[in-house]
Amino acid sequence: MKIGCPTEIKPQEFRVGISPDAAREAVQHGHQVLIQKGAGLGAGFTDADYLTSGAVVIDTAEEIFATADMIVKVKEPQAVERKMLREGQLLFTYLHLAPDPAQTTDLLESGCTAIAYETVTDAHGGLPLLAPMSEVAGRLAPQVGAWTLQKANGGRGILMGGVPGVAPAKVAVIGGGVVGTHAAKIAAGMGADVTILDRSLTRLKYLDDVFGRDFKNQYSTAGATADLVRDADMVIGAVLIPGAEAPKLVSRAMLSEMKPGAALVDVAIDQGGCFETSRATTHADPIYEVDGIMHYCVANMPGAVARTSTQALGNATLPFMLNLANKGWRQACEDDPHLLNGLNVHAGKLTYYAVGKALGLDVISPAIALKS
Ligand SMILES: NC(=O)c1ccc[n+]([C@@H]2O[C@H](COP(=O)([O-])OP(=O)(O)OC[C@H]3O[C@@H](n4cnc5c(N)ncnc54)[C@H](O)[C@@H]3O)[C@@H](O)[C@H]2O)c1
Repeated sequence: MKIGCPTEIKPQEFRVGISPDAAREAVQHGHQVLIQKGAGLGAGFTDADYLTSGAVVIDTAEEIFATADMIVKVKEPQAVERKMLREGQLLFTYLHLAPDPAQTTDLLESGCTAIAYETVTDAHGGLPLLAPMSEVAGRLAPQVGAWTLQKANGGRGILMGGVPGVAPAKVAVIGGGVVGTHAAKIAAGMGADVTILDRSLTRLKYLDDVFGRDFKNQYSTAGATADLVRDADMVIGAVLIPGAEAPKLVSRAMLSEMKPGAALVDVAIDQGGCFETSRATTHADPIYEVDGIMHYCVANMPGAVARTSTQALGNATLPFMLNLANKGWRQACEDDPHLLNGLNVHAGKLTYYAVGKALGLDVISPAIALKS
């Protein structure tokens, strides 16, 4: 198969769909990898790295879209890219179609087959191609929060781990899923005094069994949240209610009870944020202050560490990409129902019910798409 990987063109996106390591594996399986000139630079991979891996470096995205059987990307195709997709071509990338009618219409009109990273599932009910980015954002949260706490950035001037004779920072993590667990691990590793809140008793039991000595856990009620937030130097927002906007768990009124210069890191900002005063920010201007409390609300946190993020995403996508290339999408999806769950669009038809419901469009079952 000819596997094409264009340069990402969405603003502030530095990741790349295929790393040189992934390209090497695809080449070893007998495929041709076409990588756009400079596509890896944002993640620290040069064209020479790709050439060494056996990939072919191509000058333009137009040539890649015109010749590749499968396009592998990171972000959803932008309007100019969607115009280049063609009938029968396979697209494997993040799509997030539900809030994006324009993209959905274009993909349907192109006649391509599109498999969305975010709806591929695993045997444990997880989303294996979303999880790596949650791991990255979670581990980054205490790092950016620690920076925000520094005096020059408007923070309280508190060191995460304290020093002998001086207490460490108190960190409250709201939501103990993938983001929250990784955030708590790193914050505890930095020496902070960490408590994680969740509403799932099953999750709390797991956290207690595995991390009971590293950080505390507590059931998330409004009262427990208010108590912890009042006492915290840093609060990390990491809740998710699938398919819904994040609940607002810290109100503006609560800010006045917090310690001046405390830091709020709202990782859930991509779902609207879980603090009332959150608004999305960018890596160029990541923090702002409300009522004396510093807010960090970058919606695409993994972009800050594009190299790590590219490698983490590539580790998760590689087995699926190889199966798609080795077997063709039909056989690969027939053999793996979790990959089939990723099928969102095929030959002008939507195949993912939640997207159809959100946009009021007809949907055919993925099983029928496999036969068509
Ligand atoms: N900003 C970014 O760059 C970035 C990157 C990755 C993920 N995210 C976002 O981070 C959020 C968390 O993602 P995740 O992968 O950890 O999800 P997850 O499903 O693994 O975990 C969410 C957790 O929130 C808990 N929860 C739900 N309601 C709660 C409440 N009221 N109080 C306490 N806990 C509650 C759930 O029980 C669950 O354990 C999502 O909104 C996701 O989109 C943002």
